[in-house]
Amino acid sequence: MQEELARIKEEAERDLRHAANLQEVEAWRIKYLGKKGLLTRVLRGMGNLPPEQRPQVGRLANELRAWLESELARRHEALRAVEREKEITSGAIDVTLPGRPLPRGRCHPLTQVLEETVRIFVQMGFAVAEGPEVELDYYNFEALNIPKDHPARDMQDSFYIDDEVLLRTHTSPVQIRVMEQTAPRVPVRIIAPGKVYRRDDDATHAPMFHQIEGLLVDRGISFAHLKGTLQAFVEQMFGANRRMRFRPSYFPFTEPSAEVDISCVVCGGVGCRVCGQTGWLEILGSGMVHPRVLAMAGYDPQEVSGFAFGMGVERVAMLKYGIDDLRLFYANDLRFLGQF
Ligand code: PHE
Repeated sequence: MQEELARIKEEAERDLRHAANLQEVEAWRIKYLGKKGLLTRVLRGMGNLPPEQRPQVGRLANELRAWLESELARRHEALRAVEREKEITSGAIDVTLPGRPLPRGRCHPLTQVLEETVRIFVQMGFAVAEGPEVELDYYNFEALNIPKDHPARDMQDSFYIDDEVLLRTHTSPVQIRVMEQTAPRVPVRIIAPGKVYRRDDDATHAPMFHQIEGLLVDRGISFAHLKGTLQAFVEQMFGANRRMRFRPSYFPFTEPSAEVDISCVVCGGVGCRVCGQTGWLEILGSGMVHPRVLAMAGYDPQEVSGFAFGMGVERVAMLKYGIDDLRLFYANDLRFLGQF
């Protein structure tokens, strides 16, 4: 049997040298390695050997198989190279043809603005926090000083799952979740980007949109810290020439509260259609964290204070790029998306 293996090897070597093209190599493969090939036949015959010879013959047969396979691969590759060469020199393949360009993907403009915003605040020392989109009424309203019968709930007409569970209408519940986890330690310094949901649907309101919440709690935090932080953000996001103003406002969970406007990106502040002739565009809501909210979340309002803000990512993107219809962000039209 060992002799037979040696003979097969010899014959195979000779045969392969004579195989002049890929078809002949394939015929060679079938002859030696195929299901009915010579090697298989030897392996089948092993049952007739005396048991003490089987391991040795088995080993030799396996070596032969490995050798056959590597010879096959080598010869195959060599012939392929020859054929390729022939195709090229005969002109069947035009190697001077330029390659097909691959379409280059990129991030959605909202993702770009979101990541840019996160980058700006992270660089100022804020950490990123997240909370659930399906939220308890307690975190979305109650703990933010918006009790069940509070009229402020009407401003955020909501998608309820049941009486106590809803799709969050803003990212502010993340403030509470983070404070609960951290109290009584300070500082708390987070931003919380994410999706929020409201029952709105028109050119400037979508039922799902994105917000970025900011929260800072520490000893001795004042409105000046809020102002400086947002000023630094506006300058980096919209450019150093952008002016900013705080307008008194009301949120149940901040006191005092302010809405922040930037000078109109379209007219630069003289007044136009986009800013309604005011020269200003609103970008976010903000304020000093209400003492009652601090207390409910486990902080002593005598000891610490904080500021919070919440901005709309779509809104910032619309202002930054001069987009006048929010629905463009969700239409998945590459002619639009390709511009960013
Ligand atoms: N959550 C408010 C909104 O969605 C924005 C806000 C956040 C206001 C934090 C003040 C402080 O309108």
